[in-house]
Amino acid sequence: MKVVLLASRPAPGAGPDDLDTLAQAAALTQALAELGHETARADFSLDLPSTAQGLAAAAPGAVVNLVESVDGNARLIHLAPALLEDLGLAFTGSDQAAVLLSNHKILGKRLLAPHGIPTPAWTDRAALLRGAPLPGGPLIVKSVTEHASTGLDDASVLTPGDPAELLAALDRAAARHGGEWFAEGYVPGREFNVALLHSPDGPQVLPIAEMHFTNFAPDRPRIVGYDAKWDEASEDYAGTVRSFEFPAADEGLLDSLAHLARRTWSAFGLSGYARVDFRVDEHGRPLVIDVNANPCLSPDAGFAAALRQADIPYPAAVARILDAALSRRA
Ligand SMILES: Nc1ncnc2c1ncn2[C@@H]1O[C@H](COP(=O)(O)OP(=O)(O)O)[C@@H](O)[C@H]1O
Ligand SMILES: [Mg+2]
Repeated sequence: MKVVLLASRPAPGAGPDDLDTLAQAAALTQALAELGHETARADFSLDLPSTAQGLAAAAPGAVVNLVESVDGNARLIHLAPALLEDLGLAFTGSDQAAVLLSNHKILGKRLLAPHGIPTPAWTDRAALLRGAPLPGGPLIVKSVTEHASTGLDDASVLTPGDPAELLAALDRAAARHGGEWFAEGYVPGREFNVALLHSPDGPQVLPIAEMHFTNFAPDRPRIVGYDAKWDEASEDYAGTVRSFEFPAADEGLLDSLAHLARRTWSAFGLSGYARVDFRVDEHGRPLVIDVNANPCLSPDAGFAAALRQADIPYPAAVARILDAALSRRA
């Protein structure tokens, strides 16, 4: 079958988070070749008619959607599955609705609560301007639509004295990094990543990973900031260590993480592959902090690490992701 890999072309001077798409494309091209598929590349851009033309000319049996940013930010990434749906093409990962719901962190949080899936309290500009009270305790200032820890560093965690102070912090982040910013309750406890992969019987929960924060000074927030995720030479990169080892005492917690990740998958209508990130509060209760449709498939990222831990060869996982794409359209 002919499979087209659809991605945004990284802008000149793009950061490592944008360049990562190239590493994913290389790994997928190799896996697809091993599966006996012919591959080609297509560029996604805001010139939707020419993107559509390129796709139509390639006449793919399926498209691998690797669009993680558009013109350097993630606000418009749902346009890629929207266009693919409109063209009637089979494509990997989540559909337009699930990409939008998961990529927009406030929309996502609004969906979690009615499904009984715990997530930290939050506030945003509109709520603060309405005079809504602060959630209380330390908060983390996050982008509404960016991923890859964009703009996250120690200064992102703060305890504002009043709403005006928080509003100023949201506006500073927006001025510095662009887009919209909100604040969420900072949960100082353990962090877990739960990867899910399509199977004919519903999503399979892959081995759960914990992110350990080693050598972080006690007064520093324990977060996977931008440097920890992308700057391989930084202390934070070396100090954030993924582990799949758990004592027997964690069995109940791991079960509830798996259960909540499955419920999140169905609440959001995720498809193919996904990853749900959690922090655990002081009562041992897991809270969803991030829902990732189409998570990074680079060999050195969390999803591939979970595959290795599950003894699922990378090409076999790609075959399952492709199956999901083809069966959704059927
Ligand atoms: N509410 C929170 N409490 C504690 N840490 C958080 C919280 N939200 C985010 N973080 C930290 O910031 C990192 C990135 O935030 P996340 O919400 O996962 O966004 P991204 O889409 O950039 O991955 C997380 O891996 C975690 O370390
Ligand atoms: Mg995350």
